[in-house]
Amino acid sequence: MTDTAKFELAGKDFDYPVLSGSVGPDVVDIRKLYGQTGAFTYDPGFTSTASCRSEITYIDGDEGVLLHRGYPIGELAEKSSFMEVAYLLLNGELPSQDELDGFSRTISRHTMVHEQLATFFRGFRRDAHPMAIMCGVVGALSAFYHDSTDIHDPQQRMIASHRLIAKIPTIAAMAYKYSVGQPFLYPDNSLSYTGNFLRMTFGVPAEQYEVNPAIERAMDRIFILHADHEQNASTSTVRLAGSSGANPFACMAAGIACLWGPAHGGANEAALNMLHEIGTPDRIPEFIARAKDKNDPFRLMGFGHRVYKNYDPRATVMQKTVREVFETLNVSDPVFETALRLEEIALSDPYFIEKKLFPNVDFYSGVILSAIGFPTSMFTVLFALARTVGWVAQWNEMITDPDQKIGRPRQLYTGPTQRSYVPVGER
Ligand code: CMC
Repeated sequence: MTDTAKFELAGKDFDYPVLSGSVGPDVVDIRKLYGQTGAFTYDPGFTSTASCRSEITYIDGDEGVLLHRGYPIGELAEKSSFMEVAYLLLNGELPSQDELDGFSRTISRHTMVHEQLATFFRGFRRDAHPMAIMCGVVGALSAFYHDSTDIHDPQQRMIASHRLIAKIPTIAAMAYKYSVGQPFLYPDNSLSYTGNFLRMTFGVPAEQYEVNPAIERAMDRIFILHADHEQNASTSTVRLAGSSGANPFACMAAGIACLWGPAHGGANEAALNMLHEIGTPDRIPEFIARAKDKNDPFRLMGFGHRVYKNYDPRATVMQKTVREVFETLNVSDPVFETALRLEEIALSDPYFIEKKLFPNVDFYSGVILSAIGFPTSMFTVLFALARTVGWVAQWNEMITDPDQKIGRPRQLYTGPTQRSYVPVGER
């Protein structure tokens, strides 16, 4: 590709620089387009628009590749830990043992939440969706931790980042406990990040809770798989909210709200509900037919992706983890058999082949989370918990980017042109 893109409008020629990243498609730098031509670009859903520079995560959707700071997701899921991946995403390099120990210690020291925050929960209805609680409580953190909301102070940014990563599991577990009417459990910092979360979620004060190491490992891996995914809808929401100078707690609440939607993080809940609705493999053709019917809004949940036009590498690891968890717990679930069969049928159907629709991370995650004991309403909360690391890393990157500006897209206006107000009696 040349290093200049030629653009012609109304008989005039314009040149725009073409930027190359370290890998991936080149990018036409159109920042001067409006100033020079008076025209905007039109790209609903940002299908052709790079909104920022980033060094954190790379996806090659055609090849089904996902790299964090250059490391393939499969290797990280196999060999690393969520704490190590969090360090990597935030700092750019894998930590030494000392750095990892220090980072894990710092995160552990921030796991408790302000005691008054517990009273905040009591304002929610008993049957509130845990994601509704997450939006409210995470946003409320800015009212409890004023001393880390100055985004221009690197020290405060770091403390806020650590607080968010550390407190999200505590808040997520509290959201769960609140919904089942059990007392909140304080964190136990002698446990790992993930072990601590499992105990706060499934333990009760009346009994000793033993963390099952295999489940802890599976859960940690699920967190790794969800840690970051470059400029997806919720991350872009966090960046957009942050671009105005909003504090990081408020930005994370915005990200959580965006993640909740069924086209994004809510798909894991929707996928499991769908698998239950399908029930038995003999009903799969009926649902495949509905997914293909243009007049039916139904979609195969956990299938398709804006970027992946190949198998989502996270789904590969997730499918393997389901098998491991089932073996550990010595259980089986007919829903998993339905999921495997559905995948097989869809991947041999011309509709799904032509549109390059493959299982995504959410297709199998519901099956495994359900086997571990989470209700469906908690699935997206777990996604939010893990993705907080990515949001925080991306938010920090944005704040320190010299090119950063408030996000302010333009529009193609199709409404009425100027007209005069007519008093109500004359209309
Ligand atoms: N089932 C049936 N048809 C589908 C599906 C599906 N799951 N996904 C896309 N299509 C069809 C769609 O109808 C369209 O057909 P046509 O060209 O004939 O109009 C074509 O494929 C392209 O779809 P699109 O909606 O224009 O693609 P998109 O990039 O805007 O949407 C998506 C991506 C993930 C929102 C979509 O695939 C979807 O709704 N999938 C189900 C929800 C889901 O699993 N979401 C989780 C995404 S992964 C986790 C995350 O990032 O949060």
